[in-house]
Amino acid sequence: MASYRVEEIVDGVWLLRVNDRATRYFEALWEIPEGITYNAYLVKTGEGDVLVDGWKSLFSSRFLKALEGLTSPDRLKYVIVNHLEPDHSGTLEDVLRWAPNARVIGSKFAGRLIDAFPRASERFEPVGDGEERVIGGLRFRFFSAPWVHWPETMVTWLPDKGVLFTCDAFGGYGIPEGIFDDQCARETDIMRSMKKYLVTVVGHYRKFIVKALEKLERAGVEPRIIAPGHGMLWRGNPRRVMEYYRDIAQARPVPGKVLVVYASMYGTLEQFARTLACELRMNGYTPVVYGYTDTSRPHTSDVLADAIDAEKIVIAAPTYEAGIFPLVEHLVDEICHKAAAEKDVFILSTYGWGSIAARKLAQKMESCGFRVRGVLEERAVNLRDPGEVREKVRSILEAIASS
Ligand code: FEO
Repeated sequence: MASYRVEEIVDGVWLLRVNDRATRYFEALWEIPEGITYNAYLVKTGEGDVLVDGWKSLFSSRFLKALEGLTSPDRLKYVIVNHLEPDHSGTLEDVLRWAPNARVIGSKFAGRLIDAFPRASERFEPVGDGEERVIGGLRFRFFSAPWVHWPETMVTWLPDKGVLFTCDAFGGYGIPEGIFDDQCARETDIMRSMKKYLVTVVGHYRKFIVKALEKLERAGVEPRIIAPGHGMLWRGNPRRVMEYYRDIAQARPVPGKVLVVYASMYGTLEQFARTLACELRMNGYTPVVYGYTDTSRPHTSDVLADAIDAEKIVIAAPTYEAGIFPLVEHLVDEICHKAAAEKDVFILSTYGWGSIAARKLAQKMESCGFRVRGVLEERAVNLRDPGEVREKVRSILEAIASS
């Protein structure tokens, strides 16, 4: 049974978090062995309570149990729906059945989607971009954040408490031990969890993240706590987290980071990739290597998390049925969907009887904005010779160094 936590994060504001260890493929797409949490919040005011977002419907009965420990059907006055995707709205109708007088607040665009929730639809109150409501003496200000992650998405700013409720934005995969980032010793892990969620879920709409951040800055929003709908809450240094988020949204490269992806049916390109990684390290680069072989297969979600901030990308893949090796083709399609950027790409393709995959790979990556700086084709049989491998590695290294 999934466990949940209820904790006060600041005076009168409570986190309700359920730990989902059962979901292995988020959105039925992204491999997440680390699990995920769904975070909702309850704000207590002098005139009743306000719920912000909810959980996946699978956890509806536990959500009501958690709510009952904090409030009552009479006291719950409003439910704010920052985002209507079912991982945050799956409990909405059950909450409204439990609290028959609670009203629902969402963006104007949410008004176009709310008919999927009959009770919510009857009690829906749209708010405009930048609109403020005072509820029980507390100010709630709403900023639309379209495409972070859906068109209806908004964030809710609670200036009197310094809390910004961001739903998908700043959310991360994983089930943290603590609640806040400053309770966790491994900052790199939690930043990576956030980066992985950003690129897999919101990556396609990254430019809207930058717009949303600019809007918040213009409005003078300086949160003391960033409270997302997944994973860790951020209070250690919210400004730095916002800058990091912007960097990822802009696909800003980490200097010297080289993503090396290879597929190797019979070991030829694996040998090439290992030699290349070694040479890259010796030349001051930081290679991150993922290989598709007959004994290993990386998670697409992990590769995307490293593609978004790589400075350069190397792809080495065999020809397969006169085309691109299928798993690499799928990966490249996802990189194009989620992490396309003007970055240098280098391609090595092997073939047995006909060379075509390299050109197809190059076309695919160029069509989504990458700069293809080097394309090599080689008969697989030739790369069994260590001297040939060294020569190809040297050729790629030279291309990387001069790009
Ligand atoms: Fe976490 Fe777009 O839902």
